[in-house]
Amino acid sequence: MIENHKTAFSLSPGSYLLSHSVGRPLTSAQAALGEAYFAPWQKSGREPWAQWLSVIDSFTAALAQLFNGAADDFCPQVNLSGAVTKLVMSLDRLQRPGAVVLMSEVDFPSMGFVMQQALPAECELRFIPKHLDLTDAAVWQRYISADVDLVFVSHAYSNSGVQAPLADIIPLVKERGALSMIDVAQSAGIIPLDLTQLQPDFMVGSSVKWLCSGPGAAYLWVHPERIDDCQPKDVGWFSHENPFEFNIHQFRYHSGALRFWGGTPSIAPYAIAAHSIGYFAKIGSEALRAHNQELIDQVIDTLGEAVVSPHAPAQRSGTLILQFGERQAELLTALEQAHISVDVRNLGIRVSPHIYTDSDDMHQLLQLIEHFS
Ligand SMILES: Cc1ncc(COP(=O)(O)O)c(C=O)c1O
Repeated sequence: MIENHKTAFSLSPGSYLLSHSVGRPLTSAQAALGEAYFAPWQKSGREPWAQWLSVIDSFTAALAQLFNGAADDFCPQVNLSGAVTKLVMSLDRLQRPGAVVLMSEVDFPSMGFVMQQALPAECELRFIPKHLDLTDAAVWQRYISADVDLVFVSHAYSNSGVQAPLADIIPLVKERGALSMIDVAQSAGIIPLDLTQLQPDFMVGSSVKWLCSGPGAAYLWVHPERIDDCQPKDVGWFSHENPFEFNIHQFRYHSGALRFWGGTPSIAPYAIAAHSIGYFAKIGSEALRAHNQELIDQVIDTLGEAVVSPHAPAQRSGTLILQFGERQAELLTALEQAHISVDVRNLGIRVSPHIYTDSDDMHQLLQLIEHFS
């Protein structure tokens, strides 16, 4: 069991089990923001860009450590929707008539909206139907047909607590000659992902959930072998090979992932995120996952069939889904009164134990449910 990290985070009395929505901030986040963002601005008579840009270097270095990739292959983005729009519009292969993109009906809706708008009208957006089992590689195999150009996969699905078998899916995508794009919004910081081993083509993610960094610090990662295929339409001086060249007649793409950066970047969200991701990267995704799964085991062992998310460890995300039928609303009220923070979606109550959750929190949750039923 990992050492108790409760005191490192800003928590209110009760249990916070909503990391699939917004993770709690580190108590040190405010000081880190002050140091990286405000201090260079407030304390020096010079303009602060040199120090501010080093914040971005720390952000991409922390991501590289967390995902075992190279810092240069990451580009800061505001959110996943923007990142996916830029990627889809940058690839000739997806902008030609007849291109086919495969995703699932249970992907986050925003990702589907982006595909509908960023692909030309003559392209096909194909969905794996929502009733199919996304933990089953055979389902993916059936849908990744020879005409598919891009396979969009969420590593974890927060409404069902399901994890996609990326280690099976990515080789299948390669075998069929398609491109892969992974959405790690719901897995970053809680399910290990090794980019060097997995070798997808593209990855998009944010830091707002399990990485506890707040909104605005998203990122995209591009496989170095794919970068020359990418010609982003949404650019700015920070996408230029040399942002300080200042010749309006001469635009040349940055040689790496930063060609997706755009105009003057924001800094503050990345200052918080560099600090927070650094904290999690130091613990390591394996240890974070082990702690989360131990707490999930505790609930599955006690509640059995009321847990409708996968019971098999390899199929689980970091989130449990509980289903109590007609008594659900009553249970939600009882949980709220006990200051146990959860939320509910179509399949049931979502419960996400993180590094700041311990077995006493789970015990309290289980006792309340036991008392209630
Ligand atoms: C799997 C997944 N993808 C994407 C998003 C959010 O996308 P965006 O950053 O564009 O709001 C979420 C938000 O909950 C999500 O769960």
